[in-house]
Amino acid sequence: MNRSLIDKYNVAGPRYTSYPTVPYWVDDTFSMKAWKDSLLKSFAESNEEEGLSLYIHLPFCESLCTFCGCHKRITKQHSVEIPYINAVVKEWDLYCDLLPSKPKIKEMHFGGGTPTFFSPTHLNLLINCILRRATLADDYEFSFEGHPNNTTEQHLQTFYDLGFRRVSFGVQDYNETVQKAIHRIQPFENVKRVTEQAKAIGYNSVGHDLIFGLPFQTEAHVKETIAKTKELKPDRIAFYSYAHVPWIKGNGQRGFDESNLPSGEAKRQQYELGKTLLFEAGYHEIGMDHFALESDSLYQSMITNQLHRNFMGYTASKTKAMIGLGVSAISDSWFGFAQNVKNVEDYYHLVNEGIIPVVKGHILNAEDLIIRKHILNLMCHFETSWTPDDLYFEELPEILEHLKEMEQDGLLVRGEGQLTITEKGKPFVRNVCMAFDLHLKRRTPERQLFSMTV
Ligand SMILES: C[S@@+](CC[C@H](N)C(=O)[O-])C[C@H]1O[C@@H](n2cnc3c(N)ncnc32)[C@H](O)[C@@H]1O
Ligand code: SF4
Repeated sequence: MNRSLIDKYNVAGPRYTSYPTVPYWVDDTFSMKAWKDSLLKSFAESNEEEGLSLYIHLPFCESLCTFCGCHKRITKQHSVEIPYINAVVKEWDLYCDLLPSKPKIKEMHFGGGTPTFFSPTHLNLLINCILRRATLADDYEFSFEGHPNNTTEQHLQTFYDLGFRRVSFGVQDYNETVQKAIHRIQPFENVKRVTEQAKAIGYNSVGHDLIFGLPFQTEAHVKETIAKTKELKPDRIAFYSYAHVPWIKGNGQRGFDESNLPSGEAKRQQYELGKTLLFEAGYHEIGMDHFALESDSLYQSMITNQLHRNFMGYTASKTKAMIGLGVSAISDSWFGFAQNVKNVEDYYHLVNEGIIPVVKGHILNAEDLIIRKHILNLMCHFETSWTPDDLYFEELPEILEHLKEMEQDGLLVRGEGQLTITEKGKPFVRNVCMAFDLHLKRRTPERQLFSMTV
């Protein structure tokens, strides 16, 4: 990898799970009424045909991993389970009461935090309450995130019996020094046990989350982690770039020093090594950070051009509407975004008052919708194209200049009405998206808001 390219393009940049990105949402045009109207419009246009996605955020974890950028609350008190479930069900009821007919669920994902913090009995209760007010699309996909240290066979069986066929486990790195630094001791045996149990029960997609660029991590550690991963042959692998975002409140990224992190160059080498090893092991690269075996639905959706990206990450199919339930969860009606309050007590208070617990959001204007489409194309397919009605690129020199420069650097090629990111440019896909990000261009952040792109 060319060193000067890394120096040039390793800048703070969004991961584009949405456009506009959360720090650029415009509150002035957002209101609860506007949010509800945008959801009703989306529902009318898409519920019958494609159905909607549901994301449920379960924030509790027993122990704090000091690298973690997710929204979580650390507690060992399992008495929090029932009040939280009651609140999520109330929030779901508020949405169901708003919608003119029963929502049809195409995708449902349980994320966190740690969904497997909750007991199988309580999860069973929660899922039954959700499904009671919905119908299911024929080819529905249910998935959850499990922590290898606390996922039991009973968890796996319970989720499976309720229709879940996909699970992902947080692995990160197997090296002990790295695990100590990130405060997450997790022996290989634990990952092996849950992976084998999930496969034996019948899950058709088992995923592992790995990270490169962690404190004290080296290429040797990446090699060892991927060798062990290969033994278990997960169907999907997320190979995330460590996002160092210590300014996010309460995320606990203080267990190590910045000097313990690999440099931009070393981090990129770890990625290149990991990618080569994963290719050798039969995995295909899917969008940014993801790899899958040919048999996995994510690979199938990539080759049939169905791959989609939203707040849940990459998904195998697109739904126009996604409702997020639980603290900090984000909903997306395609025409608007809305984020829930982050504090558990505020969340309880609002839902108990019968109020959808949204704290902020954004309604997309015509320009946002066009740019969103291109960013989604780039993140999912590494290319995008436009028609003469959609002449943003010709008309906006700030986009064109940026693209020209990246073309000169060999990161992309432009043709008539289209552009394609080259192999060399793929690691810089976030930077290419930034060329289209008019919100970012028009208001440069005064302080760092995003992790580095490399
Ligand atoms: C909610 S956790 C997974 C479930 C469970 N809590 C666990 O830790 O096993 C989601 C995943 O996000 C990834 N992640 C969290 N913080 C990250 C960060 N700062 N940079 C990159 N990836 C991160 C990790 O790979 C983690 O497994
Ligand atoms: S990595 Fe998982 S278990 Fe660890 S703090 Fe984050 S959400 Fe919780």
